[in-house]
Amino acid sequence: MTDTLERRDEGFFYPPHAQPLNGDEGFIYSTWKFLRNPIEGFGPMAYNQPIVSVPNFGKKLHVITDPEGMMQVLALEAKKFTKTAIDARILGPATKEGLLSVHGDQWKRQRRAVAPMFAKRHMADLAPMITEVLNGFKAKLDKEPKLDLNAGMAELTFDVLAKALLGDPKGLDGERLKYATRNAVTSAGTLRPDDLVPWPRWVPRPISPKGSRALKKLKSAADDLLDSRDVNNPGDDLVGLLISAIDPKTGQELSRRERRDNLIGFFIAGHETTALTLTWALYLVGMHAPTAERIRAEVIEVCGQGDIAYDDIDKLTFTRAVIDETMRLYPPAPMLNRECHEETEIHGRKIEIGDTFLLANYVMHRTERLWENPNAFDPDRFIRQPELKAKGAPYMPFGAGPRICVGMAFAVMEAVMALGTLVRDYDIEIPADCYPRPLMTVTLRPEGGVPARMVRVS
Ligand code: HEM
Repeated sequence: MTDTLERRDEGFFYPPHAQPLNGDEGFIYSTWKFLRNPIEGFGPMAYNQPIVSVPNFGKKLHVITDPEGMMQVLALEAKKFTKTAIDARILGPATKEGLLSVHGDQWKRQRRAVAPMFAKRHMADLAPMITEVLNGFKAKLDKEPKLDLNAGMAELTFDVLAKALLGDPKGLDGERLKYATRNAVTSAGTLRPDDLVPWPRWVPRPISPKGSRALKKLKSAADDLLDSRDVNNPGDDLVGLLISAIDPKTGQELSRRERRDNLIGFFIAGHETTALTLTWALYLVGMHAPTAERIRAEVIEVCGQGDIAYDDIDKLTFTRAVIDETMRLYPPAPMLNRECHEETEIHGRKIEIGDTFLLANYVMHRTERLWENPNAFDPDRFIRQPELKAKGAPYMPFGAGPRICVGMAFAVMEAVMALGTLVRDYDIEIPADCYPRPLMTVTLRPEGGVPARMVRVS
């Protein structure tokens, strides 16, 4: 650990990474490692070859770690694959009829209706809401500078989403929604040994009583929120846009259940992912003073001491590169999954119906054959080589193809605004020996959190 931290002085900082298997471990040990922390369940084969296939209950499980294979599954031949039953079993109880879970024609119709909500023109309208929440967060920090970054960023991104989704939350108990979302995400978002068994989609995944209560509350809060709106004049926040969303091809609206499940889906998909991006980014910046200084200088040059406006975001090139590099090192969704429904061939390997896929973003983002110095924190790589973010590059924190994250523009806008504002206005003090292991539950969290003090720059 000390060795790694000392290497900061050589120009690069090597932040925590998952210890790969060495390849000699037996099946039982590897499976145990995988269950404890899936990103530590991969060895040299996964890091050195584009596809690794293992037997899986009479079928095959293929681990893909290169962009060509990922693009084939997610984009070029997306029609031959669906999300797996594990995904459906985890997400189903909360958002069965939402974009995250549906397939086929229902997905196409919903995607066409929902995607315009996240178009540029709406993003510009939402930016001031993010500023408002950030200013409230800063006021809290000024009173109490000590925080756990993970908890603090979860609070911040929840409040941003609540503000953007709910606008003026008349009659809605925000605390109730916050508590219920957290519990529902924690309960659903923890992998368990039985998740490795290929249960059919209709077999329910047992949920803890706490998780089940949280889900009930989440659904009733979402119902109350939808009821509080006039369908003929639902407002122009994201809930309003969701209520008035129409599939431009068929003219069809979303059903009442689809609206509710999408509302819940946005909270589930958009809250922790963005919080983790910011947690890891602030950790990296807090551990690497030169990066903090460059972000501060950039934000001051572009915005002075004022708020970061929507039009400023594209000018914050380095701040954005830090967000990109953070999501390379710590992709909030470190692994995607798919199941094959039509035979094909990938990297010369025959893929049969029922085979499943782990699309291991985390491994792809850190493999030597695709990245220079992959474990180093080097945001400039994205400025030196903009092609590292091009379509088909080995960088897919938001997925790829037709199911690419629908909230990507919102997430990037929020992350750049929050990182830029917080780093300009605060010194981030993190204990020098803080070196949290990246731990994958469903998302990628810093194990044990990140204790910090954020002290106002005088
Ligand atoms: C840094 C933040 C985020 C990351 C890293 C992220 C990542 C992802 C990824 C990897 C997928 C594709 C999953 C797959 O193909 O299996 C996805 C899908 C999705 N995301 Fe995000 N996401 C983020 C923020 C958001 C936000 C803010 C929202 C909404 C407010 C959102 C809503 C969704 C939805 C609804 C889908 C499903 C899209 C579909 O299947 O058509 N995400 N996200």
